[in-house]
Amino acid sequence: MLYFKTAGESHGKCLIAIIEGFPAGVFIDTSVINADLKRRQGGMGRGGRMQIEDDCVEILCGIRKNTTLGSPVCLMIKNRDHKIDELPAVTRPRPGHADLSGVIKYHEQDARNILERASARETAARVAAGAVAKILLSSFGIGVFGYVQGIGGITSDKFLNKKDIDIARTIRDKSPLYCIDQDIEGKIMEKIRQTTEKGDSLGGIIEVIAYGLPVGLGNHTQWDMKLDARLAYALMSVQAIKGVELGLGCNAANKVGSEVHDEIFYEKPRQDKLLTGGFKRLTNNAGGIEGGISNGEPIVARAYMKPIPTLKKPLRSVDLLTKEPITATYERSDVCAVPAAAVVCEAMVAFEIARAFLEKFGTDSMDEIKRNYEGYLTSI
Ligand SMILES: Cc1cc2nc3c(=O)[nH]c(=O)nc-3n(C[C@H](O)[C@H](O)[C@H](O)COP(=O)(O)O)c2cc1C
Repeated sequence: MLYFKTAGESHGKCLIAIIEGFPAGVFIDTSVINADLKRRQGGMGRGGRMQIEDDCVEILCGIRKNTTLGSPVCLMIKNRDHKIDELPAVTRPRPGHADLSGVIKYHEQDARNILERASARETAARVAAGAVAKILLSSFGIGVFGYVQGIGGITSDKFLNKKDIDIARTIRDKSPLYCIDQDIEGKIMEKIRQTTEKGDSLGGIIEVIAYGLPVGLGNHTQWDMKLDARLAYALMSVQAIKGVELGLGCNAANKVGSEVHDEIFYEKPRQDKLLTGGFKRLTNNAGGIEGGISNGEPIVARAYMKPIPTLKKPLRSVDLLTKEPITATYERSDVCAVPAAAVVCEAMVAFEIARAFLEKFGTDSMDEIKRNYEGYLTSI
C-alpha cells in the first residue's frame, strides 16, 4: 500500500519524507517537486523564516537515473536555519498550539521539545511527497489544483468549473494570496496588513479540486476505505485545519434531497477515445464521491484553517515553571499561512488519491498499472 511518513524538526538539520509502495518506472523531475516547495514558502502573510529558507529536494534513495525502482523513496529538504540546540527554552505555552498538551503528555518543562515537531515546517516534507504523487497521477491525466477561497471572513463566491482550471492556475500562480478571484484580493491584502499591525493572525478557506479521475477509486465496503473519509483524514491532519467538507458539504444538511443529489444522465461514449461519454451529472453537489467511491466527477474538497496561534500581541498563559500568569511566548511567526496551507492541502489530496488509484490498478510497475487502467476504462 502506498503511504508516506515524515521526520524532522523545525530547526533540525533537515526534513525527510519516506514514501513506500510507490511503483517502479516513474520518471521524477525534481524541478516539479521544487516548484511546489517554492510555492509553499510563499504567499502574503508569512513570517521571516521563509526568507531564510530556500527549500530544494534531494532524493536520497529509491531512484536510478531519475526513475523510481519500486523501493522506498526518501526525499530530503535541508533546513538552513538548523540551530535547534542553541534555541532558548519555551516555558510560556501558546494557546492554540501543541505546547501545553505536549509538555504535559511528555513530562517536559520546555515546550521547545514539542513545538519543534508540531511546527508546520514539517509540511515541506508533505509537499515533496505530494508532488511525487502528482507526477504519478499526471501520467494518467489526473490533476490536482488547490487554491485559497477566502481569508479572514472575506470569501470568494466564484464557482470554478473543471474546464477553467488552466486559466485559474495562471491566475493563482500570479496571486500573492494563491487566490483565483481578483475581486476579493485587494480586500484580503488590506485585512492581512491591518491584522499584522494589530499583532493578530488570520485563518481561511482552501479548496482542492482533483479532476480527470475514473469512477471507482475508494471503497464502500469498509469504513476506513471510503475515499471521502480518507480525504477528510488527510486534510484534517494538516496543522491548523479544523474542518473539511466535500462538494456542497455542511450546507447539504439545510436542504431537501431534490436540491442536493446529482441526477444521472447518459451520453454515448466516443469509440476512439477513453473516458468520454457514459454516465454523467449536470451538477456535482456530491463533490465527486458517492458511497465512498469516486463517481467520475471532479473531487471537490474544502478545508477550513483556524488563525495562526503565535501572536505578536500574545494571549494570556501560565508559566510552566512558576505557574504564574504571564503572556504566551512570541517568536517569529506567520500572520496568515492560508496560501501555504493550500499547497499542503493540494499535496495531501494528491497523495490520498494516488493511494486509492494504486489500490485499484496495482503498485509494482508503471507498465502494469497502465495496462490495468486502460483495460478497466475499456471495460466500463
Ligand atoms: C503552512 C502552515 C504554516 C503555519 N505557520 C505557523 C506559524 O508561523 N506560527 C504558528 O504559531 N502556527 C503556524 N501554523 C499552525 C500551527 O502549526 C498549528 O496551529 C499547530 O501545530 C497546532 O496544531 P492544530 O492547530 O492543528 O491544533 C501553520 C500551519 C500551516 C499549515
